[in-house]
Amino acid sequence: MSEVQNFKVTIDNITLEVPPGTTILNAARMIGGEVTPPAMCYYSKLQGSGGKCRTCLVEVSKGSEKDPRPMPKLVASCRTTVMDGMEVKNITSEKVLDARKGVVEMLLINHPLDCPVCDQAGECHLQDLSYEHGGSGTRYEFDRRTFEKEDIGEYISLHMTRCILCYRCVYTAEQLTERREHGVLERGDHAEISTLLGKSLDNEFIGNVIDVCPVGALTDKTFRFKNRVWFTKPVDAHCNCTKCSGKVRLWMRGDEVFRVTARKDKWGEVEEWICNDCRFHKKDVKDWTIEGPSKIDRHSVIGQGHYVGLKKTPILIDKVIGKNPKMLMDIHDVSDVNKPEIHLSQIQGPAHSDDFQKKDK
Ligand code: SF4
Ligand code: FES
Repeated sequence: MSEVQNFKVTIDNITLEVPPGTTILNAARMIGGEVTPPAMCYYSKLQGSGGKCRTCLVEVSKGSEKDPRPMPKLVASCRTTVMDGMEVKNITSEKVLDARKGVVEMLLINHPLDCPVCDQAGECHLQDLSYEHGGSGTRYEFDRRTFEKEDIGEYISLHMTRCILCYRCVYTAEQLTERREHGVLERGDHAEISTLLGKSLDNEFIGNVIDVCPVGALTDKTFRFKNRVWFTKPVDAHCNCTKCSGKVRLWMRGDEVFRVTARKDKWGEVEEWICNDCRFHKKDVKDWTIEGPSKIDRHSVIGQGHYVGLKKTPILIDKVIGKNPKMLMDIHDVSDVNKPEIHLSQIQGPAHSDDFQKKDK
């Protein structure tokens, strides 16, 4: 049997070879770093996910070697497969950055800015997205959507106003549990996550919907309002569970286990699904064998506290722009403020634009 030829694809000036059928998003994930488009609905572990949120839009400036015409519109990178010789622009495209800003504005039209009281704050993908790609204001002047509060069971809390309708929780329930009790009801701006006839979500693996939800729409009732995520320390632990792998992440403060979640990879996706028993009922440190501090890959708020398990993401900007970025200024060249031998009272004042003009002359 002849071997299948890989396709060559260039994303933001970085070229790599990938097997046919790879999506642009997954090719970009092979490169990593800032070249990878954000994804709010695609989830590699869930079949059929993607194509809902449009945050992963990219510009295809060359379709393929055979047909080099650019694609007429920006495309969803999670749903578009690479062609041989394709050239893609993500952070090197003004159009993409502008469109992504629009997508963030659209997502935030109905999403409340209640981060100070939201359990997802600090690990919310929409928070990260709006910080990296959003504008500082909104043009929206109308009333936001509101929903009747719905009780979906003893484990999971639903805040429908925060939902961005990514469908991840629906696919999770469909693909992981014996029967799905919730889904998206209604259409358009009436669409909402809901259960039919007030059923509750209590299937054995349903707790995983909390982990896949990119925002704070689905949160853990056993952890709600107990602590802020950045005050807790994540550690990897396992137990002998008969229902799941038993490999989890404990969110601890001192010896107290505040929360149990699945372990996540560097794209924020669950590595192995865990059962409700492990997640909601084993909150004693004696239930677990501790392996050590978790590796935190995302530019997480937990990393701000010099957390021991922090892994830095690769910096690729020199490869993207083809040269080392020019440092516009080095504060040490123009100010003595960081020189310990010089007393602060002897320094005239802070460096300002005049200092640089003098330096250029
Ligand atoms: S509740 Fe969360 S996971 Fe479910 S559709 Fe809404 S945002 Fe997505
Ligand atoms: S991640 Fe591609 S459309 Fe949502």
